[in-house]
Amino acid sequence: MADASPVTGIPATLIPGDGIGPEVTQSVVAVMEVLGSPFAWDVQLGGMAAIAVGGDPLPKATLDSIRRTGLALKGPLTTPVGGGFRSVNVRLREEFHLYANLRPARTLIPGGRYENIDLVIVRENLEGLYVAFEHYIPIGDDPHAVAMSSGVNTRDGSRRIAEFAFDYAARNGRKKVTIVHKANVLKALTGVFLETAQQVAEKYKDRVACDERIVDACAMQLVLNPWQFDVIVTTNLFGDILSDQAAGLVGGLGMAPGANIGLHAAIFEAVHGSAPDIAGKGIANPTSVLLAAAMMLEHVGLKDKRTALEHAIDQVLNVDQIRTGDLGGHATTLEYTTAIINRLKG
Ligand code: NAI
Ligand code: MG
Repeated sequence: MADASPVTGIPATLIPGDGIGPEVTQSVVAVMEVLGSPFAWDVQLGGMAAIAVGGDPLPKATLDSIRRTGLALKGPLTTPVGGGFRSVNVRLREEFHLYANLRPARTLIPGGRYENIDLVIVRENLEGLYVAFEHYIPIGDDPHAVAMSSGVNTRDGSRRIAEFAFDYAARNGRKKVTIVHKANVLKALTGVFLETAQQVAEKYKDRVACDERIVDACAMQLVLNPWQFDVIVTTNLFGDILSDQAAGLVGGLGMAPGANIGLHAAIFEAVHGSAPDIAGKGIANPTSVLLAAAMMLEHVGLKDKRTALEHAIDQVLNVDQIRTGDLGGHATTLEYTTAIINRLKG
């Protein structure tokens, strides 16, 4: 059919993923249509779904697509534990130099263990102990007698992530950045991170306050008084741990989105995994991946659409009280999605 209207939508790669991935990403696709189809989806395979087709969990076609679009929404991918292929998530971060992992944690449903949480964890995504330069030293007949692991933090990498965090804080009206480290013990590895981040803080001191915490004390403070934190910037492994902890403050994995951001590409995802125990049942909570899609809207400059989507989610959860089973409700993924669409249609 001839169609005179121009092709609309920003090209974006969509990887439905494994387990509940296709169910929750389908929810995003449906909701985005009501928001005027801001993205033109290029659907690509990843994870077990890709292995089943071509033997590779991260096929070339998927990489090529992200290279072309520079923008992706990714459903969860199943990763075999101990052996098997390397984490596709880590491969994607390395491939596209996605150096910043941005994980906001915000209370969406009042009445939980903590009220009014609104903090953001900025995790360095390419360096630190996560580089996993590991080896064993055999002694006698024990090939694993000594296990060794080296971490790598660079001046450039530390500056890049600190600048990302302070710039994010300044642009988003955030008041304070807390640098989290373990420089009292890992004096070189996390010392260079702390020192460099403090240099960056100097440049922002008129706009954004800065303090620092040792990671173990920070973990305790996140439980005792999470409201003291605004933006936290930290190294890869500490950010991995603290961002799950922060998700726990706001009701767990079903409510936590994440963004992996580099200079030339950004990949948005839910923090949770493929939930094989409920896959295919149509009961998964799509909120995490919807919130990830909301971050993606803002990333491409559509902040008003982000606000509209987050507002609709808030209304459905708290006014309509339509919730999926993990939140104590009875709604299916489709019923919850339909409720959000109805809210967006006003
Ligand atoms: P998981 O996050 O998939 O599930 C943990 C528990 O939370 C399960 O009981 C599950 O039913 C529930 N759950 C998770 N998301 C939910 C949702 N949206 N709605 C309702 N309930 C939800 O973690 P698990 O079981 O440790 O991992 C399963 C697989 O996912 C593994 O292969 C793991 O490697 C992978 N994974 C992938 C990630 C990614 O691609 N970003 C992140 C984390 C895990
Ligand atoms: Mg993690």
